[in-house]
Amino acid sequence: MRTDIDTLWVFALASKCRAFTQENIAWSLLIMALASMAIALLHWAHPGGPAWGKYKLKKGYRTDARTIPGPRGLPIIGSMNLMASLAHHRIAAAAKTCKAKSLMAFSLGDTRVIVTCNPDVAKEILNSTVFADRPVKESAYRLMFNRAIGFAPYGVYWRTLRRIAATHLFCPKQIKAAEAQRRMIACQMVDMFKNHDQSFTVRGLLKRASLNNMMCSVFGLYYRLDSLSKEVEELRGLMLKPRAKSEPVRQPNHSRTPSSKRWRNPRFRGCFAVSSRPDKLSDADMIAVLWEMIFRGTDTVAVLIEWILARMVLHPDVQSRVHDELDKVVGVSRAVAGSDITAMLFLNAVVKEVLRLHPPGPLLSWARFAITDTTIDGYHVPAGTTAMVNMWAIARDPELWADPLEFIPERFVAKEGEMEFSVLGSDLRLAPFGSGRRTCPGKNLGLTTVTFWVASLLHEFEWLPSDDNTVDLSEILGLSCEMANPLTVKVRPRRH
Ligand code: HEM
Repeated sequence: MRTDIDTLWVFALASKCRAFTQENIAWSLLIMALASMAIALLHWAHPGGPAWGKYKLKKGYRTDARTIPGPRGLPIIGSMNLMASLAHHRIAAAAKTCKAKSLMAFSLGDTRVIVTCNPDVAKEILNSTVFADRPVKESAYRLMFNRAIGFAPYGVYWRTLRRIAATHLFCPKQIKAAEAQRRMIACQMVDMFKNHDQSFTVRGLLKRASLNNMMCSVFGLYYRLDSLSKEVEELRGLMLKPRAKSEPVRQPNHSRTPSSKRWRNPRFRGCFAVSSRPDKLSDADMIAVLWEMIFRGTDTVAVLIEWILARMVLHPDVQSRVHDELDKVVGVSRAVAGSDITAMLFLNAVVKEVLRLHPPGPLLSWARFAITDTTIDGYHVPAGTTAMVNMWAIARDPELWADPLEFIPERFVAKEGEMEFSVLGSDLRLAPFGSGRRTCPGKNLGLTTVTFWVASLLHEFEWLPSDDNTVDLSEILGLSCEMANPLTVKVRPRRH
């Protein structure tokens, strides 16, 4: 049997060997460093940078294979700079420079990445089973988020969660059942906005309203908007705290709160327990899944509403068209009801136009992951490659949209005999909720909440710019893409 002692003879021999002088060791180290540098440069010289070069060198170059164009970035680290601050802008600019709109390759250290700014290629990626997985995220594992829908590996567990979520959490019946709660929170928001006779920022209240809404849906816990609860403040702190992108989201210990029994909302508990009996979910699984709903469903909704209100302030002509529609469909004598929304074609067009110009997830979920080797747009894409879709760039492409930078909701108002444009993932020119197997399961709930609350807020108020502040449409990209400078407004009540 080999032991460590047995192998010591190699070192003993080496120490006796004349070749191992200090000078020779220094030369060897220098040669090794030069060789490593040469290899790093060879990797880096490949289009797409070091991760692609490394892969091609390992697998051997195939002369018949087309090479995906893309920036080399820097040796070893590749194009890490593309992911800094507004990644969707940087990636779109790089794709233009490399003439790689349909598919671009780049490297993030050792990770091979492809990205597209083309709707047909986006469809190929998002709807392919090969890309139904997500890249493994350390932080997700540390937080048990790999047990939640968005991070779970593609497989039986993920499919079970999606099936349960689709049938019980996000089905039309449940969305309708939450209407009273949406209406109650809308009333509380209106009451609080009414109290402002000076300029004020809307973000704080929108995020609290959205968090209360999710807490109610997920845990059956009711909180008033005008009173601060310790539990909600703790959650809010976790979600609103400015965070570096690399910093993980801290998962609160729900089980630690005094109301530990209350998180078992019978509606959710019931649906998980009954429908998942063969593959029973543990309490830890439940917490991961339910916490994810809060973390994904809160920010996206509030961020989108802030963008919509910003556009209403910037375009008073559009706002007044929405007011006309509200007066026609709802009238002034009563508040908006959920059943009014389908008749509000122009308001729905406004929401779509804001989703086009300001998608809360401009790079969708950031990433999908190739389970096996595949071909995309005629290019070979190896297993283990991360794929992204730049939805922000697609939705502003002048080849797909007339006057793409202009805010024109009318483009989404279907003409006589025309089909309404769906933003739910069938048309990749605008799919802010993604598409395919990993599409957002909360899209109908999210859209319903946003549209209803915006209708209520516009029905009650005229939204005006603040005296000292213009609306600044600059963006900041964190978990969602939100206004870099929070919207400040004044309101004038419309109904007395
Ligand atoms: C305006 C609101 C929302 C937007 C714009 C949005 C957008 C997205 C996008 C782009 C994805 C990735 C899709 C893909 O990879 O193809 C996603 C995934 C997801 N979203 Fe949403 N979302 C919204 C609201 C919600 C809500 C309200 C919930 C839950 C309460 C939710 C839960 C999820 C989950 C669980 C996933 C992961 C799905 C999976 O990986 O299987 N989202 N969302």
